[in-house]
Amino acid sequence: MPDALAGATPLSGERGTRPSQNLQLPPMSTATQGHDEAAEALGLAVIASEVNQNLAEAIASRAFPRELDAAIRYALLGAGKRLRPILVLLSSDAVGGRRQDAMAAAVAIEMIHCFSLVHDDLPAMDDDDLRRGRPTLHRHAGEAIAILAGDAMNTLAFEVIANQITGEKAGRIVRELSVATDDMIAGQVLDTLGGFEPGLADHQRLVTVHRNKTAALLRASCRMGAICAGGNDAQLEALTSYGESIGLMFQAVDDLLDVTQTTQHLGKTAQKDAAQGKLTYPEVLGVEGSRAEIHRLHAAADASLESLGPGAGPLRDLCAYMAVRTR
Ligand code: IPE
Ligand code: IPE
Ligand code: MG
Ligand code: MG
Ligand code: MG
Repeated sequence: MPDALAGATPLSGERGTRPSQNLQLPPMSTATQGHDEAAEALGLAVIASEVNQNLAEAIASRAFPRELDAAIRYALLGAGKRLRPILVLLSSDAVGGRRQDAMAAAVAIEMIHCFSLVHDDLPAMDDDDLRRGRPTLHRHAGEAIAILAGDAMNTLAFEVIANQITGEKAGRIVRELSVATDDMIAGQVLDTLGGFEPGLADHQRLVTVHRNKTAALLRASCRMGAICAGGNDAQLEALTSYGESIGLMFQAVDDLLDVTQTTQHLGKTAQKDAAQGKLTYPEVLGVEGSRAEIHRLHAAADASLESLGPGAGPLRDLCAYMAVRTR
C-alpha cells in the first residue's frame, strides 16, 4: 500500500504558476480526512478510509510519470470528506447491494470530483490558494501539472469502471458518470462565464448553476449505487429524487459556509464568493432565506426515502449531517 500522502512534497521541474512560499496553513487534519465529530458519530470516517485504500490502489495500478503520479495522489488522497463515494455505497446498501460491487463507482466519482476541484481552483477559474487545508495543486506543483492531473483523473475514473464493472451495468455506469460530468462542466461554464438563457430571474439562474455544477455528481452518486446494487425502477427513482434534493442542498450549505465560517475552519478560502461576484444562495436569498431553503431541501430528501424503508436509515442520517455540516 503506497503512503497516502506520498505526493505531498513539492514537485520538481514545474512550469507555470509557482508554488507560494508564504501560505498560512491550518494544521493538516489526520485520519478523519476532513470529517468532524458529527460525521465520526455516523461512522463516515470508517467508510472513507476504505474508499481511500481503493483510491490508492487504483493509482498504484497505473505507471504514470513520477510527477503526474505525485500530483494525482496529492489531489485525490488529501483530507476530503469523501461524501460522493459514501453516497454511492450507502445508496447501494439501501437497496440491498454488496459494498464490493459498488466500490468501483465510488472510486470513480471521487476521481471526477477531485478533477473538478483541481480545475475549479485554477487561476482561470476561482483562482484559489487553499484546498483541503493545504495549498491547491497548482500552487503546490504548478499549473501545467495541475491541469494534466485533472485531465488524468477524469479518464482514470472511466478506466476503473471499465476494469472492474462487467456486463450491462458497465455501460449504464459509464453513461451516468459521463452525463453527470458533462453537466458539472456545463455548470462550471455558467458559474465562471455566465451565458444564461435570456429572461431567467436570479433564483432560476442560481438553481440552474447549482443543479449542474454540484447536484449532478451527487445525484449520479446515488443513482450509480442503486444501479450497482441491481435496484429496481422504483428504488432508482427514489434515490434519484433524494440525490437531486441533497445535491442542491449541498451547494446551498457550501455557499452558506463561505459567508459564515473561517478559512482556518474550512481549509479553503472563506468570504470568496461575494468577492468574485458569484451567484450564491446567501446572495439571492440572504442567510436566513438560505437556511430555510436548506431545511426545505432536507425535508424533501427525507421524504424521497420513504418507500425504501429501514435500509435507507443511514442515508437519512447522512442527509441530516450534510444539512448541518460546518466544513
Ligand atoms: C466542495 O465539495 C466542492 C463543491 C461541490 C461545493 P466538498 O465539500 O465535498 O469537498 P471535499 O471533497 O470534502 O474536499
Ligand atoms: C465548486 O463550487 C463546484 C465544482 C468543483 C464543480 P465552488 O467553487 O463553490 O467550490 P469550492 O467552494 O471552491 O469548494
Ligand atoms: Mg467554483
Ligand atoms: Mg471554488
Ligand atoms: Mg464554494
